[in-house]
Amino acid sequence: MAESLQQLVLDTLDVKSTIDDTRLLTIPGQSQPAASHEDQITILGALNSLLSREMIVYETHEISSHALTAEGSQIVNEGSHEARVWAALPEKGQGSPLTPIQLKKQVGDETAKVGQGRAFKNGWIGKEGDGLVKLTATIQDVTQIDLQEIASTGMLKAGEKTLADLRKRKLIVQRKGQWFTVRKGSSFSTSTAKPETDLTVDMLTSGAWKTSKFKKYNFDAEGTPTEGGALHPLLKVREEIRNIFLEMGFAEMPTSSFVESGFWCFDALFVPQQHPARDLQDTFYLSDPKEALPPEPEYYKRVSMVHEHGGFGSTGYRAPWSHAESSKLLLRTHTTASSAHMLYKLAAKCRGEKVVGDADEFAHGVSTTDDAEGKEQDDGFRPAKLFSIDRVFRNETMDATHLAEFHQVEGVVADRNLTLADLIGFMRVFFNKMGIEKVRFKPAYNPYTEPSLEIFAFHPMLDRWVEVGNSGMFRPEMLEPMGFPKDVRVHGWGLSLERPTMIRQVILCAFSMDYDQPRLSSRYGINNIRTLVGHKVSIEGIESSPAVMF
Ligand code: PHE
Repeated sequence: MAESLQQLVLDTLDVKSTIDDTRLLTIPGQSQPAASHEDQITILGALNSLLSREMIVYETHEISSHALTAEGSQIVNEGSHEARVWAALPEKGQGSPLTPIQLKKQVGDETAKVGQGRAFKNGWIGKEGDGLVKLTATIQDVTQIDLQEIASTGMLKAGEKTLADLRKRKLIVQRKGQWFTVRKGSSFSTSTAKPETDLTVDMLTSGAWKTSKFKKYNFDAEGTPTEGGALHPLLKVREEIRNIFLEMGFAEMPTSSFVESGFWCFDALFVPQQHPARDLQDTFYLSDPKEALPPEPEYYKRVSMVHEHGGFGSTGYRAPWSHAESSKLLLRTHTTASSAHMLYKLAAKCRGEKVVGDADEFAHGVSTTDDAEGKEQDDGFRPAKLFSIDRVFRNETMDATHLAEFHQVEGVVADRNLTLADLIGFMRVFFNKMGIEKVRFKPAYNPYTEPSLEIFAFHPMLDRWVEVGNSGMFRPEMLEPMGFPKDVRVHGWGLSLERPTMIRQVILCAFSMDYDQPRLSSRYGINNIRTLVGHKVSIEGIESSPAVMF
């Protein structure tokens, strides 16, 4: 049918060059012109198909038309209720009048009810004794006539008032209708042969492509939906942890410099220059450029002093200071290097430096104790809560189970008179928010913190305590050369991002439990870290890995 209708449109255009009004077309297989709404919808389908091939163009004309309801259609076929009541009754004086009950039996409840009143009003029927009779020999069933007109044309010449009345009686409904004027398009032809949708190898080899008609691209088509990007599990966990820090009032530190100097990564933190962590085996050193720009000379002097000779109440390491060691460029081995930069900056006012434009930099670093109340005291110190989550590098031999880089999460709090209890309290809240409820602390050693605590969490699946982080109160040998007043304490804690990720995600459970060096263990069936990190990661795995929720 669709094809023959398209053919009809084309043939008609071929003869007349324009179809002025598609309501005058007769759809193949029908006997009447296409006057109804449905007919025009059918025609529209054919027109759009021809339009997409540029065989025709058309204009749309909007009209408001009417259609019959089921009750309206019944009236067209059987007459109005009042006409049916009239027809059922005997003429006055000829036969016995019908009682209302008899009438109901004959024409049905609904028709008797609605029709009686109207027939009375029209003067068609009247009473005789207890019964009803016809008063006129003939009637004109205007309702039926009007509805017949509407059924065939969608309109009524009698006008809007009658239409409104019929609408109110729910015999018709109003409909927006359309009809069309059609003209030849740029690719007009009377052939409805479907254009090609693909250029095939066959067409190329046979040369058929030269004469083939091709379907135009439809740039408005929606196309198949593309898959959205998915976050790697590590990134999901990073976002969760970032939110925990932000919730606790921490501000994020800038951590974009992967390359640091020995000075910032170790010396500023009072890590002895002979410390094994500084060995070539543990740290990546840069070969070009080799040397860092010198730090601020006064600070450098204080740091080298405290290492070599002591000071600020410390005896120092009493080992010769090496400038070469201090100025070596390296890939940072921990994000505490970034924390050192920020703490040094935080202490600028305490050193009496005029600080321009730092007003907002530590603005989120809300006070952690009551007495300081976040107000600046005479010595220029302002409390701060800072965090970072970023990549660090350790000179590991890379193999299937080791990478030379991982991510560290670090929190730092600076305020007056902080105690170890504050640190423990902070960490409890922090790990709690990550869903790790059972935490234990064990005394440990860090060159830059005293006391230092290792953090252990109970792993319900492994049924044992696993180390999840490291923490401590930064040493005065680190803080005082920076210029912090003596009553200022800074505590910090660090953990690897891979650790909580592996605890959360079955796939990353493949990491073993060493805190310092996230490793892979084959017990979970994944025996190559490259299936988790790097270019061999399966995108499907990333897409289907569950969202992390602490
Ligand atoms: N930098 C430490 C590490 O790499 C973590 C740490 C941060 C410890 C801050 C104490 C204070 O393990």
